[in-house]
Amino acid sequence: VGTVRLAVIPGDGIGPEVVAEALRALDAAVAGTEIAFEQTPFSLGAARYLETGDVLTDDDLAAIKDHDAILLGAVGGVPGDPRLVGANIERGLLLKLRFELDHYVNLRPSVLHPGVASPLADPGDVDFVVVREGTEGPYVGNGGAIRVGTPAEVANEVSVNTAYGVERVVRYAFAAASARPRKKLTLVHKTNVLVFAGSLWKRTVDAVAVEYPDVSVDYLHVDAATIFLVTDPARFDVIVTDNLFGDILTDLAGAISGGIGLAASGNINPDGRFPSMFEPVHGSAPDIAGKGIADPTAAILSVALLLDHLGHREQAAKVQRAVAADIAERGDARRSTSEVGDAIVARIGAHE
Ligand code: NAD
Ligand code: IPM
Ligand code: MN
Repeated sequence: VGTVRLAVIPGDGIGPEVVAEALRALDAAVAGTEIAFEQTPFSLGAARYLETGDVLTDDDLAAIKDHDAILLGAVGGVPGDPRLVGANIERGLLLKLRFELDHYVNLRPSVLHPGVASPLADPGDVDFVVVREGTEGPYVGNGGAIRVGTPAEVANEVSVNTAYGVERVVRYAFAAASARPRKKLTLVHKTNVLVFAGSLWKRTVDAVAVEYPDVSVDYLHVDAATIFLVTDPARFDVIVTDNLFGDILTDLAGAISGGIGLAASGNINPDGRFPSMFEPVHGSAPDIAGKGIADPTAAILSVALLLDHLGHREQAAKVQRAVAADIAERGDARRSTSEVGDAIVARIGAHE
């Protein structure tokens, strides 16, 4: 036990609105314990770029690195804002943090809590986690274009998959599956078409599987995986997949398990060499920003992931229980961001 140095990046749009509630939940969860958080706010995102022209300076990065963990709301402006073309906040800030801090595991749990409406008629018992690779794939920026704007334009975006990078995330996924009751791992890829990367992922999973005889392993092509996520999501336990497939599958996973306003994530550096970063799966939602109606639950559940990562299991469970109790009784009531925060914070403090 000591003081946890937490970098806080509220970001843009609804980011600051949901982070405010998440920090209240964090305070409530550790109240009366010896766990202390010392927060450093970082003003980063589209708004900061428009003000100063900086996306993420070397000094920002060094300062963020000098923390134990990061809580991020959301970054990014209004899609299509001409002033942001070329700045590319998503690449220059969010992805840069994930790459520089070696967040090779992007952990995205999906649980359909009792009482929560799913757009699926009969979703069953949905409780799975996507282990999305976070530092490779088509996200690395290994691409380029020639003859841009002409009929002869060629644009390439090359997916990078290294034996080192695939093995470490696959190992993490097996360990995660082995620690869960159902002990099931599904590799999702597109090995029938992306034969080189697909072969590397498949061989890696087969090789590590030998060390985990307790884990049952299956494989789905990503297109078929989207079918089963809708027709039978309860079949999944741990899904391991590449960066882009994982991005797409986890918005779908959010939608089927109560909505994107509930989906939390952790960008994990399992080696502990760099601070891990916790954030809702959703973005800055410019369409509802400033109205005080964003659902802060995903940000609050990201705090639970943060506490769990830091080894504060009891406090993490407290936050999770409070959220579960709140969403069980939510119904269709339209509550403001702070009303949802109030209700969850009250439950965290209530020693249920
Ligand atoms: P988005 O997730 O911001 O919004 C998609 C839809 O979901 C919108 O209708 C929005 O109102 C709704 N929504 C999202 N979060 C919600 C919440 N907590 N409560 C209620 N409704 C919610 O995705 P987008 O519109 O594609 O992207 C907007 C901006 O955010 C873009 O600049 C994008 O690049 C960026 N983005 C950032 C992150 C991040 O920082 N991690 C993630 C995704 C998108
Ligand atoms: C997410 C987002 C990011 C991603 C974007 C904003 C770079 O969609 O966190 O899911 O694609 O990973
Ligand atoms: Mn996404």
